[in-house]
Amino acid sequence: MFEFQSVNMGKKLKIFILYAKLLLDFAIDFFFSLYWDKRKKPIPDLESKHAILKESATALAKKIRNKELKSEDLVRAVVERIKEVNPIINAIAADRYEAALTEAREVDRLVAVGLSEQEWQKKPFLGVPFTTKESQAIKGMPLTMGLWSRRKEVASEDSEAIIRLKNAGAIPIGSSNLPELLVWQETRNLVYGMTNNPHHTGRSPGGSSGAEAALTASYATTISLCSDLGGSTRMPAFYCGMFGHHPTPGSTNLRGVFFRNGDEESMFSLGFIAKHVEDLAPLTKIVAGDKAKGLNLDKDVDIKNIKFYYLESTNDVCVSSVRAELKGAMKRAISKITQELTTADAPQPYHHEGFNHMYVLWKYWMTKEPDNTALLYTNNTTEANGILELIKKVCGLSKHCLFSVVRLIELQFLPAVDSAWAEKLTKEFKDDIFTKLGENGVLLMPSAPHVAPYHYSCLLRPFNFAYFAVVNALKCPATQVPLGKDSQGLPLGIQVLAAPNNDGLCLTVARYLEKEFGGSVMACKSK
Ligand SMILES: *[C@@H]1O[C@H](CO)[C@@H](O)[C@H](O)[C@H]1NC(C)=O
Ligand SMILES: *[C@@H]1O[C@H](CO)[C@@H](O)[C@H](O)[C@H]1NC(C)=O
Repeated sequence: MFEFQSVNMGKKLKIFILYAKLLLDFAIDFFFSLYWDKRKKPIPDLESKHAILKESATALAKKIRNKELKSEDLVRAVVERIKEVNPIINAIAADRYEAALTEAREVDRLVAVGLSEQEWQKKPFLGVPFTTKESQAIKGMPLTMGLWSRRKEVASEDSEAIIRLKNAGAIPIGSSNLPELLVWQETRNLVYGMTNNPHHTGRSPGGSSGAEAALTASYATTISLCSDLGGSTRMPAFYCGMFGHHPTPGSTNLRGVFFRNGDEESMFSLGFIAKHVEDLAPLTKIVAGDKAKGLNLDKDVDIKNIKFYYLESTNDVCVSSVRAELKGAMKRAISKITQELTTADAPQPYHHEGFNHMYVLWKYWMTKEPDNTALLYTNNTTEANGILELIKKVCGLSKHCLFSVVRLIELQFLPAVDSAWAEKLTKEFKDDIFTKLGENGVLLMPSAPHVAPYHYSCLLRPFNFAYFAVVNALKCPATQVPLGKDSQGLPLGIQVLAAPNNDGLCLTVARYLEKEFGGSVMACKSK
């Protein structure tokens, strides 16, 4: 991007930028903390009568099948738990609790009568309730995408993923909050307000599936269906201490999600957030349908036979520097893995020039997505003008969030990315990284430069989701893995990336790290 008279000069400038960014980062966190730390509210502990909510969806489904648990009791427990925590996290957009209870009683009747082995095969999650981001169409439920102009819109039919989950026996109990038009690192809009991170309610749970992660981390949902175009499954999972899997793009059916018809070539994928890794493969299979086979989800490789690479940080000028505590978490994971391997196979550092342009590459590939943000902004009536919308916002005449206005301005008035450059770099990047990883290699990489940010502070660091977004640009799978807490009690973690269709490899490593590092980081205690 810049041309320097001498390499030396360039190096000095890089170091200067590095320190300037770090200083700015600390200043932002310091000033926001003065406001938000006083407003932190605790999440009530999980009561022993709801202890069942600690279990995985897979274990719950098994209990229902074995008649050790009634679906009605499970649905009631989830509803009661939501009612306890939702006033603090504001995650639920709309609910169907009564209908879900009726459906659960129907399941219990069915189980009492008895199902054939074949019927059980088709319904692996019979009687287990689920929630999903509001952008996923559920017949009769709101479908606003967080737009004020759509606040009365109701979905006329189920999305393909909802149909598949229902066919698998799962019961929708509610939809959850999202950022206006989905593409943002916070979960806020004018229809439903703002969702809080349960670990620190003055911080963002991430976006766009922030409410799903907030519910999961508070024991308030059992299955959490998300979607990810620039980190929307993995980022909230990271900020809330959960696991999240982003399957290889093209494998999950997008019909009925965020206006998609399901045929588009896209870097968008449906995914799940979960407390337990064991849920991620069976749930991904359901939304992938016939394409599940291609993801090798059941591939269970011995850690010793996996080739590990790692990326500590990048020099992307758009993105803050990775904080020491996150680097420490990665180092602990690497050293644990190193103990398992022979020295010859020790994890190797990996880098490619593409990692220095993570945000710009994603920005370029976003122009190939079918969504027209300026049109969506007005509920598909006319193309909005970013500058006019900014003036309206400043004058208090806007029904949109500032981040949507800023995104519109970026799309309309900032220079476009050089397409020949972006396509060439992406191709070289993919060739290099996927050749290296092959069928048995994974890359451990940062999730974000920092832990969950304070509310509104993302506007000052808008590109810090780029470690997630670059994975979308590469169109490969990645799993978000929690790795304990930092000195302030906030979740740490890393991403595990593999070559396309090696989803099972990501999950194998996630399972290993879950066992070694304590798994998901819950936002409250359980009695
Ligand atoms: C928003 O768009 C939908 C079609 O997607 C339409 O049915 C509805 O009337 C529109 N609402 C407003 C307020 O323009
Ligand atoms: C927007 O309207 C056009 C027709 O004017 C229609 O083809 C398209 O599907 C609509 N898009 C959305 C997202 O509603």
